[in-house]
Amino acid sequence: MDMYSTGSLLIWLLQIFVLETCMLLLAEGGEVERRISHSWNSPATAKFCKSHTWFNRHQLKLCQLHPDIIPSVTQGAMAAIYECRYQFRNDRWNCPISNVTGVFGKTRLRTRNPEMAYLQALVSAGIMYDVTKACGTGTVLQCGCDRVFGQDNPNVDWKWGGCSDNLEYGNHFTETFIDDSTSKKTAADLMAVQNYKAGRKAVEKNMGIKCKCHGVSGSCTSKICWNAMPKLRQTSETLLKSYTQAYHMMYSKRSLKLRPLQERNRNPSKTDIVYLTPSPDYCEPNKRHGSVGTHGRRCNKTSDGVNGCRLMCCGRGYQTMLRHVTESCHCRFQWCCSVECETCSRVEELHVCN
Ligand SMILES: *[C@@H]1O[C@H](CO)[C@@H](O)[C@H](O)[C@H]1NC(C)=O
Ligand SMILES: *[C@@H]1O[C@H](CO)[C@@H](O)[C@H](O)[C@H]1NC(C)=O
Repeated sequence: MDMYSTGSLLIWLLQIFVLETCMLLLAEGGEVERRISHSWNSPATAKFCKSHTWFNRHQLKLCQLHPDIIPSVTQGAMAAIYECRYQFRNDRWNCPISNVTGVFGKTRLRTRNPEMAYLQALVSAGIMYDVTKACGTGTVLQCGCDRVFGQDNPNVDWKWGGCSDNLEYGNHFTETFIDDSTSKKTAADLMAVQNYKAGRKAVEKNMGIKCKCHGVSGSCTSKICWNAMPKLRQTSETLLKSYTQAYHMMYSKRSLKLRPLQERNRNPSKTDIVYLTPSPDYCEPNKRHGSVGTHGRRCNKTSDGVNGCRLMCCGRGYQTMLRHVTESCHCRFQWCCSVECETCSRVEELHVCN
């Protein structure tokens, strides 16, 4: 919070004093060198922000204030979309979203089912992840490392130090950028906000410690440790568990909040994922429900799982195709220093849903 207000003040000062000039700013005790190549008020910034067609007015304003952080936002969201596609690659719904506009903005999917809920949580986690990473590298003006550590524990062989991932800023910025750009009033917005929060909680929950040894030629005479974020993969797996236990909610006109559809269920906690409509079977295309169908999807003839042809093709049957595959084979290491291979070709059987 402190870092954030200092950052805002700095930007404000810069806007007054620095126009279209280059300057170097030494911050954080001279450790991190930051280069500011343009003033935030330039037409270039306006153009840059406008090029993100999915931004709403609130986000456009934030972009004008903090353009240096925006690349991390898009990068984080894209990383989350790739992660979602990886996690669901064998399912009927295989996260058929190609870019951020499928999640945010006017062209976003309007479905409110568990799959969308998962995606919302993961994208929020992804944005927080990359914003936090950017803070640690010193490329963003308004944030840096977290250097506030607890007391050193005399019973362990290491000390706190180095650059901890600054979750607080990443969390705060992501919340301001995505949660605060919704009305937080409609059922769909309440659902989205709960899932955004759950995504960020999952990053927090998986925080770990990373250490580095200092000493002569690899010895570990002193060990310095800091708080580090998990890999996004770990977060996406945590969220996958929440997804399988997602809460079916309904909008209560009386409390203006969401409540569990089944009275006996407890209210979801901050880490829980919520949805409003059940998933379709994803067999046939249905834009409204976020389904592209499974026609033309590859399936596995011998698998009994969802990736097996029986379940994947929803009983419509499948086509078998033969494909010639050419690849390197019988590779040998030649002294010195090359690898020589032969070319082999084989025929691969491919099954595709009708
Ligand atoms: C983003 O995805 C939408 C459909 O989901 C597509 O129409 C659009 O062309 C894509 N934009 C880019 C820049 O890839
Ligand atoms: C198909 O499924 C079987 C059984 O689960 C597995 O052993 C095999 O590797 C899979 N094949 C492909 C191409 O994924």
